[in-house]
Amino acid sequence: MSIKQYESYKVNELGHLTIGGIDTVDLAKHYDTPLYVYDVTRIRQNARIFKDALKTLGVRGQIAYASKAFSTIAMLQIIKQEGLSLDVVSTGELYTAIRAGFPKEKIHLHGNNKTREEFSMAVEEDIGCVVLDNFHDITLLENELGDTQHMDVLMRVTPGVASHTHQYIMTGHEDSKFGFDLFNGQADEAFTRLVSHSNIHLKGLHCHLGSQLTDSSSYTQASARLFKKIRQWHEETGYEPKVMNFGGGFGIQYTDQDPLVRYEEMIASLINDVRGRVKALDIPFPEIWLEPGRAIVGNAGLTLYSVGAIKHLPNIRTYVSVDGGMTDNIRPALYNADYHGVVANKAAKKTSSTVSIAGKCCESGDMLIDELTVPETEPGDILAVYSTGAYGFSMANNYNRFPKPAVVFVEEGRDQLVVRRESLDDIIKNDLSYE
Ligand code: LLP
Repeated sequence: MSIKQYESYKVNELGHLTIGGIDTVDLAKHYDTPLYVYDVTRIRQNARIFKDALKTLGVRGQIAYASKAFSTIAMLQIIKQEGLSLDVVSTGELYTAIRAGFPKEKIHLHGNNKTREEFSMAVEEDIGCVVLDNFHDITLLENELGDTQHMDVLMRVTPGVASHTHQYIMTGHEDSKFGFDLFNGQADEAFTRLVSHSNIHLKGLHCHLGSQLTDSSSYTQASARLFKKIRQWHEETGYEPKVMNFGGGFGIQYTDQDPLVRYEEMIASLINDVRGRVKALDIPFPEIWLEPGRAIVGNAGLTLYSVGAIKHLPNIRTYVSVDGGMTDNIRPALYNADYHGVVANKAAKKTSSTVSIAGKCCESGDMLIDELTVPETEPGDILAVYSTGAYGFSMANNYNRFPKPAVVFVEEGRDQLVVRRESLDDIIKNDLSYE
């Protein structure tokens, strides 16, 4: 099952957009704007698609939600309830997980430049797995582990696969800051150091190929390369990986231009590929771990804004400015990302013009949507921008000293505040006077 982009959004009898059965105009009134709203039912459905895909294929493994996509205590509580594992990349993400009561043995730590503090917290909390990225990582972990302590690790490798996505979110290609290069000797050296280590237990390999991938080709190419190396290690030492982690990267539909991504088909095609290679090597089938972030939360979230100034430039364009922008969603400015949206209080009205949605930061590049067809629009209208659930809140910032928006969860006709809106005092809370 794949869920279509706008499936959780409906229009009610007032002609207002609803999410999870709740009128978005009421939400905007009650909680103010800008406001991130998540449909929890959809988060759960997305999580289940991934879990079920492994189950249907009869494969043992873990689906680790990449918490960088959206990490708050409430969110991680949902992920815990759905039985997923968790990928964290910092003490901040790890701390959030611990405070959310996330099972520690299901937490995996990532990062291309992990600090001593991160290793120390990982060891102290006895988390499930650390994904080692480089030689510095190995040394830090060795230093952190006492004589009697152990840590399960995966070795992150760069398979040299250039996936079809924005350069900034490509990670599996050769010229990457992440992971051990698979074929220039680095991976071999790391493998030799780890394979018979006294307290670091090498469970298998990890790769992450990039983000917003819409078919399985990068995954199967990576599988081919990883297994080429495993064959070599198997022949040399008898090594059999217990785990193969192919990372995240599963794309979503942001606009109608994007294909509907069928996760179960992508996963089936990857598993098929792995099956063939495992069979050829005559080794036990490893656990398959995946780390979707965007695919779990992206389409479950939208952002509500209030329309303010409207500037008509005859024969050029109309700027419709909203009360947020690159502070709550930096993706259009950073990656040229496209979004779609609707005037939530006029969702049943006929569209009559094409406008550009501008943010309110003092920066021309702060545009949210280049072209959006809307009905007659005026100040005070509520604009809903779809599919902002991944990397919106998590990359939010206080540029221009705008407070970060609140986050509301809706589920089965009920809404609940899960992150308070920042106040002006929050904005200056760490500022000290200069005496
Ligand atoms: N695993 C690893 C090791 C990763 O580095 C990432 C994302 C993921 C999993 C999750 O990837 P996803 O399934 O969400 O594509 N800020 C960018 C995305 C950066 C992703 C970085 N790593 C964006 O807004 O598109």
